[in-house]
Amino acid sequence: MGSLTDNLLALAKFDSGLKMEIEQAIPLGPLLQRVNSEFGELAEQNQVTLIMNLEKDLRVDCNQLAIERLLRNLLHNSIRYTPAGGLIELILRDRSNMESRGGAEITIRDTGIGINPQDLPHIFERFYRSDGARRRDGGGSGLGLSICQSIVKNHGGTIDIQSERGRGTCVTIWLPYS
Ligand SMILES: Nc1ncnc2c1ncn2[C@@H]1O[C@H](COP(=O)(O)OP(=O)(O)OP(=O)(O)O)[C@@H](O)[C@H]1O
Ligand SMILES: [Mg+2]
Repeated sequence: MGSLTDNLLALAKFDSGLKMEIEQAIPLGPLLQRVNSEFGELAEQNQVTLIMNLEKDLRVDCNQLAIERLLRNLLHNSIRYTPAGGLIELILRDRSNMESRGGAEITIRDTGIGINPQDLPHIFERFYRSDGARRRDGGGSGLGLSICQSIVKNHGGTIDIQSERGRGTCVTIWLPYS
């Protein structure tokens, strides 16, 4: 419930056109570690393994609270949609985009239920949930990914999702250095 209220408030804020305050040169490694440690218990309860692979000393100008929310939403999805015995990886690395612009790439990859090809084009829409997700639990509201997308756009970055039904999902975020 906490995350629904949080997400609704975040969405209302973005909609009202409020600009996110950007802080300079925030180290991403410690930020990812912080969020990751919040999920240790949930991962254990769900019997999934959570591992991290972080390149050192990557910094971006960003709103820390927003990036934390982004990662929470994505890790929450991966844990929720990955059956017991699965693996979730959080990876941070230095990566240029297609125009050779420098930035940090964050990958969240899971070995979960995956997303049907017919659902994939819709998952960033507000309140959209696949049938599979609705059957799995009654908890979600379908707002998480639309918020992730607003946050990434606000930082001038990109977010992409690749997924295969029954095999897993991989979310790739790219955030420019400046
Ligand atoms: N890692 C994932 N594995 C499988 N399906 C996913 C994954 N992430 C998202 N999805 C699919 O995309 C849909 C939308 O995700 P989103 O995070 O926006 O909503 P939600 O998780 O259902 O609810 P909320 O995040 O608001 O609690 C999900 O309902 C699910 O069908
Ligand atoms: Mg979600």
